Amino acid sequence: MSVLPFDDRDGFIWFDGKLVPWRDAKIHALTHGLHYGSCVFEGERVYNGNIFKLREHSQRLLDSARILGFEVPFSVEEIDEASKATIAANNIVDGYVRPVAWRGSEMMGVAAQSSRIRVAIATWSWPSYWSPEARMRGIRLNISAWKRPHPETAPTKAKAAGLYMICTMSKHTAEKDGFEDSLMLDWRGQVAEATGANIFFVFGNELHTPAPDCFLDGITRQTVIGIAKARGIKVVERVIMPEEMAKADECFLTGTAAEVTPVREIGPYTFTPGEITRQLIADYDAMVRG
Ligand SMILES: Cc1ncc(COP(=O)(O)O)c(C=O)c1O
Repeated sequence: MSVLPFDDRDGFIWFDGKLVPWRDAKIHALTHGLHYGSCVFEGERVYNGNIFKLREHSQRLLDSARILGFEVPFSVEEIDEASKATIAANNIVDGYVRPVAWRGSEMMGVAAQSSRIRVAIATWSWPSYWSPEARMRGIRLNISAWKRPHPETAPTKAKAAGLYMICTMSKHTAEKDGFEDSLMLDWRGQVAEATGANIFFVFGNELHTPAPDCFLDGITRQTVIGIAKARGIKVVERVIMPEEMAKADECFLTGTAAEVTPVREIGPYTFTPGEITRQLIADYDAMVRG
């Protein structure tokens, strides 16, 4: 990972409708999205110069904004085209794309009905460093003290910046204690997801994953469910209690950044990344590069 700070790089960022030099994509300290969390974003991967599931991500950006009560002032087609133009301008072949939309500076109070909606799209190079063997060793997670909130407590269907506050706190604690990530339970105590990825378990020959009723139904999650079903693997979306992890054989995370990441430990529970995980990694890699 580069040590260059993200506000001091070469290249171009798409900013409110046009490409601007990277260092000029600035906002003011008095920005509603910064003070009150009125901000939504996306995370996308570029493989061989193509943004995987671009339309789905652009649509989710617009949907997330609507859930927070604002309209992104561009169509889904315009966001798609702007994203492609941004990776082209920066010569990105294998990388990451970060669209973000937020309420601007016209109003500085809880209510901000007439604030201008700002949009930016940035991209940077991010090749996959993991060799398949290294990946198969699996990562270690602790179990977070923070819980995914009830859907009447927070806009849980949106990829909203504010929802990541507890993810950052969870991940910082995990890293401080020597773990790679953190498993978050929901407010009922059910298994929910990791700090930036969904979670799956293999029980025997079946794939089980928590039903996404209070967290993001990730685009990768949906893709992996499709791949598993195409392989004839039975997929069960259900309530999963933490104690059940004792009986799971394999475990992995899914997400745009995580792709399919094997897990070997969550708190007191251990797993052995195995054949189903290996197959899904191979199929997912083939699909994203296909
Ligand atoms: C909290 C959280 N859950 C799940 C996901 C997985 O979503 P996707 O597969 O759409 O990237 C992400 C990543 O974007 C995330 O940040």
